[in-house]
Amino acid sequence: MAHIIVVGNEKGGSGKSTTSMHLATALARMGWTVGGLDLDLRQKSFGRYVENRRAYMERNGLDLPSPAYHDLPEVDQASLAPGENVNDRRLSMAVARVEKDADFILIDCPGSHTRLSQVAHSLADTLITPLNDSFVDFDLLARVDGETNRILGPSVYSEMVWNARQLRAQAGLPPIDWIVVRNRLGAQQMHNKKKMGDALSNLAKRIGFRVAPGFSERVIFRELFPRGLTLLDLKDIGVGGLNLSNVAARQELRDLVRALKLPGVEVAF
Ligand SMILES: Nc1ncnc2c1ncn2[C@@H]1O[C@H](COP(=O)(O)OP(=O)(O)O)[C@@H](O)[C@H]1O
Ligand SMILES: [Mg+2]
Repeated sequence: MAHIIVVGNEKGGSGKSTTSMHLATALARMGWTVGGLDLDLRQKSFGRYVENRRAYMERNGLDLPSPAYHDLPEVDQASLAPGENVNDRRLSMAVARVEKDADFILIDCPGSHTRLSQVAHSLADTLITPLNDSFVDFDLLARVDGETNRILGPSVYSEMVWNARQLRAQAGLPPIDWIVVRNRLGAQQMHNKKKMGDALSNLAKRIGFRVAPGFSERVIFRELFPRGLTLLDLKDIGVGGLNLSNVAARQELRDLVRALKLPGVEVAF
């Protein structure tokens, strides 16, 4: 059975697709077979990222380890059972197809609340939630008292994850390992960083997630997409050497993969 990794957060621009591509490629580079699905049916950033990679490899005669991207299959409406949701069927068909020969399935979610995303969360063995270091983004996890910074209660996204956990428990599936990843950290704003760190570790205990550090804010992430490349590919295309920012970014990726504690994964890249 493939291990399902879902990357989700109802907020756009938190780094879901960037994280999905880097993680899927890192696992492929470590020799695992990785299938990818993109549930952001409108933007398809992850799908397009993988497509760009294939085109780049073709143009340059390269063969880089890559995740295999799969579109959700089209389903004949007439084949649905009464009351069955078409997207539920599309997702379960896609997962059934991919899991036959994949070690990991990476599912990138849209930055909004959709039925597809909700169902995907209940399939997650590992759930990764990239989060910008901002209380605007934190607000999707929990409501905070503006005066005291005390946590008042869970918020929409946490409640969705809680529901997904309930569904899994009812189905006898193992619990979701939920990891909130602090992404796009800036070099400054120490005060905000500390406040955010405190709030997250406080909330982690209450609603059951782990916190892991993600990527710092770096221009390189925006430049890689058109060629479908990740930080790990740079040395294969002759951009090696000692660019300290890229070396540090690769270390962040290594640390992230290690923090996820995926089954059987020894970090070696
Ligand atoms: N660590 C980072 N540093 C700089 N830019 C980033 C970083 N992570 C993501 N980005 C950029 O931010 C934008 C949104 O990222 P994306 O991964 O598409 O987020 P999401 O999928 O959550 O909407 C993209 O332009 C991406 O290149
Ligand atoms: Mg995205």
